[in-house]
Formats: sequence, structure tokens, C-alpha cells
Amino acid sequence: DNNSYMKNILVTGGAGFIGSHTCLALLEKGYNVYVIDSFVNSSPKSLERVINIYKKKHFDSNLNLNIFKGDLRDKNFVQIVFSDIYKSNRKIDGVIHFAGLKSVLESKKNPLLYWKTNVLGTLNLLEIMNSYNCLNFVFSSSATVYAQSKSSLLKEESETGPINPYGNTKLTVEKLLEDIFKSQENECKFVSLRYFNPIGSHSPGLLGENPVGIPNNIFPLIINTAAGIQKELNIYGNDWPTKDGTCVRDYIHVMDLAEAHIKVLDFLSEESPTYFNLNVGTGIGTSVIELVKTFEKVNNVKINYVFKGRRMGDAPYVVADNSLSNSKINILTK
Ligand code: UD1
Repeated sequence: DNNSYMKNILVTGGAGFIGSHTCLALLEKGYNVYVIDSFVNSSPKSLERVINIYKKKHFDSNLNLNIFKGDLRDKNFVQIVFSDIYKSNRKIDGVIHFAGLKSVLESKKNPLLYWKTNVLGTLNLLEIMNSYNCLNFVFSSSATVYAQSKSSLLKEESETGPINPYGNTKLTVEKLLEDIFKSQENECKFVSLRYFNPIGSHSPGLLGENPVGIPNNIFPLIINTAAGIQKELNIYGNDWPTKDGTCVRDYIHVMDLAEAHIKVLDFLSEESPTYFNLNVGTGIGTSVIELVKTFEKVNNVKINYVFKGRRMGDAPYVVADNSLSNSKINILTK
């Protein structure tokens, strides 16, 4: 039973979109979950929803979810979380690190905030983990670390070259993890998961994506358009060198992504110390138009959209080569 090896999991950013879905998946599999979240960009409500969904299904069992409100930039806070957990004779077997800021635009306006949150926050966490000899770490990286490619699938060894501060912070943490791994060769089990575009919600849609403020990402914007919260959807560019002129992305269901983390924990529990980067995507490219049409068909609604100019920093084609994740961990097979 792998769960007996990694039973107690700390999830930073556990109230966020991917974090909350992963917490639910972990609880469903019987893990003890500790969440750290500052709630600057998420709401405690998403964890209440996780608890409600879980309780509806498992009314007779205990819910092993502990929530710590605080910010990773505050090392003292991280220290207190760890000492609290270890004091009561429990421990942390693995850490899934989602906490961070993710708006490209905001990162350009405020790089200090992004470096402090995404890099210093991670450094603090790794330092405290190290002092507790806690060595299993799954990092939320992003396909954004890759240099732009025109039309070929991105492989883990493809050239990196982020073009904004947000992407720089993600790549920096990957390098940091690699450096730590190399210095402690026989101990660490570190993985950076390079997510493509996660969308969707735990069925039947009680959890979802609930960013604070106006969303930037396409899927919540499509939903807001369908719900009449905004009048129309802007589609950024119809003159890209793609099948229909709109950008192509690799959209992966958030529950598949959540499950991927658990498969990675299982994999690590059997594996010797390691560090690697892994794409998490479907390998299927979908254009913005195709995404909108599919949404219309599945939900039987009409989405008003208008073509706008290209959005700065967008790439025409971002699709995963997922052969490594499929051969190594079987990420997309149930
Ligand atoms: C964005 C970030 C990426 C980050 C990811 C997760 C950029 C350039 N990239 O990815 O670094 O890891 O979010 O949060 O911001 N689109 C529209 N209209 C809209 C919004 C989006 O047409 O109103 C299009 C975009 O041009 C893009 C696609 O939809 O082609 C997906 O956009 P989005 O959801 O913002 O994700 P990415 O830009 O791929």
C-alpha cells in the first residue's frame, strides 16, 4: 500500500483552483491533508466546498483536513506550521506546492511581488522542509517555461525561455530544485510538473474555478459570457498561423491534473531519489474557436464573441508531448 508510505501531505495554495481539486482527490484516496493558504487570490469557500462534497459522500468517516492561514513569504509562519504538525507526533511525508501568483500581466507590472511570492516563498518552504528532513516535493510549474515554438509538440528537453516575470519565477524554482537535488544526491525526491491549460471542475460542478476579481484565463471567461456576467468574449487574434487563425492550447481537465499529483506521489514513493520535469497535458491541441464551439454544443448555449487584436505575449501553439508522463507515470490512464 503506497498510501502508508506517503500518508500526510502538505498542500500549499490548497484553496486555489488546482489546489482545491487536488485536496479533494487526496481526501478521497484517504490521505491526511494539511493546507497552507493566504487566501489572497482564492477564497476559504473553495475548501468549505471540498469539505461539503466529501462529507456528502462519506458521512460516516473522519475528514482529515487541517487548514493553516498564512503566507509563505513569512518564514516564521511556515516554521510554526511544521512545528505544530510535528509536535503532535505527526509528520509531513510529501509537499505539493501550488501557492503562488499566476497572472502574466500583473507580473510585468510588479516583478518584485512575483519574485518575492513565487521564489522567496518557495525558498522559505524548502528551508523549513529541509530542517525537518522532509524531502518529497511536487512543484507546480508551467508550460510557460518553454521558449515559443511554432507548431511542434513541446518536450521536457525542449528549449526553455520564458518571456515574462511570472515564467521566469517558475523556471527559477525548477533550477533551484535541481541544484538542491544535486547537492543532496541521495535524499530528495523532487518533481516539477509543467501544467498546460487546466480547465473544468469536479463533477457536478460544485467546486470550479473561482478566482478573486476578474479572471484572465479563457475558460472562466467563457463561463462568465454564458452566464451573462459579461456581454461578449474577446478572442485575441484570428490571424495566427494555426488551423483557424486562433491560438491553439492543450486543455487538460482539472480532475485529471489533480489525479496526476497523486500518481506522482505514488511513483515517488517507489522511486529512488530523483529530480525531473514532467509535462502534464493531453497532447491534443484545441483552438480558441474549437473550445468555444465545444462549450456551446455541450452546454447548449450560445457564446457571443468578437475578434480582437493579438494579446501581447501569446504564442500560437502550446501543446504537450506527453510521451514521458505517459510512459513514466501513466498520467492520463485511469
Ligand atoms: C496563461 C499564461 C500562462 C499561465 C496560464 C495559467 C499568458 C500569456 N500565459 O496561459 O503563463 O501559466 O495562463 O494561468 O498569459 N484568450 C482569448 N480571450 C480571452 C482570454 C484568452 O482569446 O479573453 C485566448 C488566449 O489568447 C489563449 C487562450 O485563450 O490563446 C488561452 O488563454 P489563457 O486561458 O489566458 O491561458 P494561456 O495564455 O495559455
